[in-house]
Amino acid sequence: MELAAQRNPVELFKEWLVEAYKTEPSDPDAMSVATADSKGRPSVRMVLLKKVDSDGFFFYTNMESRKGGELAENPFAALCFHWKSQGRQVRVEGRVEKVSAEAYFRTRHFLSQLGAWASKQSRPLESRQELEDRVEEFRKKFEGGDVPCPPHWAGFCVVPEKIEFWQEGKGRLHDRFVYARKGEGWEMTRLNP
Ligand SMILES: Cc1cc2nc3c(=O)[nH]c(=O)nc-3n(C[C@H](O)[C@H](O)[C@H](O)COP(=O)(O)O)c2cc1C
Repeated sequence: MELAAQRNPVELFKEWLVEAYKTEPSDPDAMSVATADSKGRPSVRMVLLKKVDSDGFFFYTNMESRKGGELAENPFAALCFHWKSQGRQVRVEGRVEKVSAEAYFRTRHFLSQLGAWASKQSRPLESRQELEDRVEEFRKKFEGGDVPCPPHWAGFCVVPEKIEFWQEGKGRLHDRFVYARKGEGWEMTRLNP
């Protein structure tokens, strides 16, 4: 892999994502999201990338979840994509900005919309039945109309400060290129594998 030094890394990411869609057996848009609490203790989980543009990388979640709490107190995140079929990894780091989930929420399937209302994400649940009862409760409540976006649902945009591309190479001599924001543009550095 030879990457042009002047490439825009967000555009390059989009090209890699398109290629991953062609070859990954499932969820090429899945990424790990690392957050940390105010004491710097990290946690990580998978989420789905729902949009990427010049502003950043967007995902949606329950603001009352663990990640929601950690991002409220420490608004920085790191993302990691791994596309096994392509031998590729992309890492992203940056500040997060909270964004509305309204438009995205309307695109979710009905059951996923009910689930967003029913699930008190990341908090203890007495039984599976309790969750299913809550889904039924909201099904009745919203029957025959649109399901509104729950007030505790929103998105985060990770505004990239660094984007690193990793391409598997023979004999573990992988290629790594990291782009760091510099003024209005980006500065690229090649790294040892
Ligand atoms: C492939 C995959 C995609 C997921 N996508 C999302 C997502 O887009 N949003 C979300 O809130 N949770 C998603 N989850 C669930 C999270 O991994 C996690 O269990 C949940 O958000 C609670 O995390 P927290 O307790 O760290 O906040 C996904 C899980 C997997 C395995």
